[in-house]
Amino acid sequence: MSDKVYKDYFYDEPAYNTHDGGFIQLEEPKVPEQKLRVPALLKPDKETDSDMYYTVIAQQGETQLLPGEKTKTWGYNASILGKTILFKRGKEIHITLKNELPEVTTFHWHGLDVDGPVTDGGCHAPVYPGESTQIHFKCDQPAATLWLHAHPCPQTAIQVWKGLATAVVVTDDVEAKLPIPKNYGVDDIPLILQDRHFHKNNQLDYLADYDPDGVQGPTAMINGTINPYFDVTTQKLRLRVLDGANRREWRLHFSDDLEFTQIGSDGGFLPEPVKFTHLMITCAERADLIVDFKGYKPGDTVTLFCDDVAIMRFRIHEFAPDNSVLPNHLVDIPDPAVTPGSPIHKVVMSGMDEEVKINGKKFDMQRIDDRQKIGNVEYWDITNTNDKDGGMLHPYHMHSTQFRIISRNGHDPYPNEHGLKDTVAVNPGETVRLKVWFEHLGVFMNHCHILEHEDGGMMAQFEVYDPNHPKNYKLMDMDTLMKALSKERGVAIKDLHIPGENM
Ligand code: C2O
Ligand code: CU
Ligand code: CU
Repeated sequence: MSDKVYKDYFYDEPAYNTHDGGFIQLEEPKVPEQKLRVPALLKPDKETDSDMYYTVIAQQGETQLLPGEKTKTWGYNASILGKTILFKRGKEIHITLKNELPEVTTFHWHGLDVDGPVTDGGCHAPVYPGESTQIHFKCDQPAATLWLHAHPCPQTAIQVWKGLATAVVVTDDVEAKLPIPKNYGVDDIPLILQDRHFHKNNQLDYLADYDPDGVQGPTAMINGTINPYFDVTTQKLRLRVLDGANRREWRLHFSDDLEFTQIGSDGGFLPEPVKFTHLMITCAERADLIVDFKGYKPGDTVTLFCDDVAIMRFRIHEFAPDNSVLPNHLVDIPDPAVTPGSPIHKVVMSGMDEEVKINGKKFDMQRIDDRQKIGNVEYWDITNTNDKDGGMLHPYHMHSTQFRIISRNGHDPYPNEHGLKDTVAVNPGETVRLKVWFEHLGVFMNHCHILEHEDGGMMAQFEVYDPNHPKNYKLMDMDTLMKALSKERGVAIKDLHIPGENM
């Protein structure tokens, strides 16, 4: 690990969401501090040496988020967000997906390398209310923090806003040997960063807050907790930070400009730890951080800020000294050679508001926009041509792969981008080159992870194919989904909120 401590955010400042006309600054909530909710681990229905069985239930509930009335929310095996789902590398995973919501949803495993489009759980894998379905896959990827979220295009954003997102943790033997905090819930905790706007009687009202460039609210919500604090009882904490917001970028820093170390990103550990005082994370990205409270004593408080707003407090208690030292090298990152003669894929993200597109087109569930042979290693060049009013960042995501970031406009990627990633934010006027390979067949989505852009059509599809075993996929169409939703919600199709179409 180099001794360099990065004291500035890496992205182009003019592209920060703060410059957007619709930007909503966070405000510190005027409610008492509450203990951070740490989602429990989901209990397997059964586990053997080789297999794990789970039941994941999408359900409605009510959550005490603010004093007074409870908020109507959705979650996975919980009233909001969900339990953390643990997969052990090497095991066969069997999951029953149950929809107890009043409307159709899908279960997308963001960052998981699985077959598509059904196991992957994008828009082609609807589970209707009252129904359940089974998926099965082998978990064979490095230890990482992934997540599960709803993905019924173009209604992903509203379902995530209501609470359908939860952490998924993959563990492996490499991680087991690293000298890092490992006691889930005590010194190893997920931090799902989201923001919300509360209306009358503490309720959410997505449509009232709708903004085609991304819905935001002034109140930070972490793991479904407003104004949280966490009791620190160990010298070091591992924080698995996930930007689970629809639109918001989080510019994180601690009080006293406390240094912290990033050990992992989307797809697992970084090759080397990277030290910061300031870190910006964009939608759907993960940052696995180690914070060392060595210089503090019982009774102290360390505050986590986003921009200049306190979003969470760490209350320091007695802890035993922890002299463990992170190795300079954490893991080897695979770097397969590009397949000779392969094309360079081009993805151009353009526009804002209702105009968002990929390669000049809006998403079409029945159109395959690109193809890559399974096992091939190819470059994908992702461009953001968005330059209106300084432009905006588009966090670009691909299903079913963990890629490498090769360059940003021909320059090195950011210092914390040397690990495996599934999401990368592209600055306006920038082309990011990715090295991409797939190990699973299927039809998958690639899109901007500002959820309103995704729903609004800044999304495309690609097929991972095997020339020796051509496949035909049954793809969903929007009419079928909209008819179902119209019936379930009891509103005419023309009155359904379809971003990019009838706004
Ligand atoms: Cu977080 Cu298409 O996914
Ligand atoms: Cu995804
Ligand atoms: Cu976007």
